[in-house]
Amino acid sequence: MPVIPVDLAGRSYEVRVGSALLADLPKQCGALLRKRRVPIVSDENVAASWRSILQQSLESEGFEPQWLIHPPGEGAKSWRGLEKTMDWLLEQEVERGDHILALGGGVIGDLTGFAAAILKRGCGFVQLPTSLLAQVDSSVGGKTAINTAAGKNLVGAFHQPALVLADLDTLATLPVRELRCGYAEVIKYGILGDRAFFDWCEDQGAKVVAGDRAAQEYAVTESVKAKARIVAEDERETTGTRALLNLGHTFGHALEAETGFSDKLLHGEAVALGMVLAARYSARRGTISDDDAARVTAAIDASGLPSEISALGMDADGPKLAAHMLHDKKMDAGTLPFILLRGIGEAFLDKEVALDDVAAFLDEELQAH
Ligand SMILES: NC(=O)c1ccc[n+]([C@@H]2O[C@H](COP(=O)([O-])OP(=O)(O)OC[C@H]3O[C@@H](n4cnc5c(N)ncnc54)[C@H](O)[C@@H]3O)[C@@H](O)[C@H]2O)c1
Repeated sequence: MPVIPVDLAGRSYEVRVGSALLADLPKQCGALLRKRRVPIVSDENVAASWRSILQQSLESEGFEPQWLIHPPGEGAKSWRGLEKTMDWLLEQEVERGDHILALGGGVIGDLTGFAAAILKRGCGFVQLPTSLLAQVDSSVGGKTAINTAAGKNLVGAFHQPALVLADLDTLATLPVRELRCGYAEVIKYGILGDRAFFDWCEDQGAKVVAGDRAAQEYAVTESVKAKARIVAEDERETTGTRALLNLGHTFGHALEAETGFSDKLLHGEAVALGMVLAARYSARRGTISDDDAARVTAAIDASGLPSEISALGMDADGPKLAAHMLHDKKMDAGTLPFILLRGIGEAFLDKEVALDDVAAFLDEELQAH
């Protein structure tokens, strides 16, 4: 079973990738479960398929699982969802040395992680990610947060899990549109920092989305290795390395804002389109070839993710889309850093991008393809 260490001074932990990890939970979690009662936070969709597996595996070793199950969706990552979680954890008498289990996608991981960060000034938690996005991205690296009226992920903390168990079996019940959204984050690691992995995605990416277990294991393992490397180098996003993970997010955020953060365009789909735009904009600025930009577009298209913004049917022009970027939380003292490409596998932070040039580029994109 692939085991990837996340090396952080004094707070290192493992990410294990494999099958039947949830069915083997007592053994996998070992000494982290100090008490008979085990608090587990999840959502309704995930619990419908996975609650009984966890229940049985824990009960078989004498544990008594306690469940808090949120409605699915971003709504749980809110002040209300946090309050409900904190009150419940306090009722459960969770102590600082205990570990809370977060069973779900990025929403449950981010919410539970943040609750763990502030419960009694910090208790332990274990990530049991069940979406592809959570397995390859959100469960690793310790960013936890909730959303507020002012925007997404604006209230949060860095709080690393004690262990991450990425059970590939869970991907079998994930809706395929969500699987594809997670794949956008997989291919992102290739585009931003690993040309050989991008080559693999070009070849094998469709298999990941089609449910091929070997392809999924390779994709999750390589993605976690990439994320672990980046987090070990720049845990708190201070040197710029971790910021490269935002490839495609600035363009993507503008598209999400324009489509009202709705089912019309899910976050992963927006990131996929954002990466196509980042590649094409890089080609326009002459930092990569048109051929490389076309390869990025083709690889994203081959996985079934959207790759042309003109197909979204938005009633918007370039300046309107660019205006959304002014509200991007990555704005830094009046400038908006863009993650662009010097080649496939070589992303960099460009702080010299003028928004009116981006607007002109987006106008062309809306008409061209
Ligand atoms: N902390 C980080 O570093 C980080 C990084 C990226 C994204 N995020 C956050 O992650 C969240 C998105 O995560 P997500 O895409 O996993 O969303 P999610 O948690 O909402 O899961 C997506 C949908 O799939 C369902 N689901 C999840 N696993 C399932 C399974 N195995 N079977 C059936 N249904 C399943 C969920 O109920 C939900 O309806 C966002 O809130 C985002 O801000 C955090």
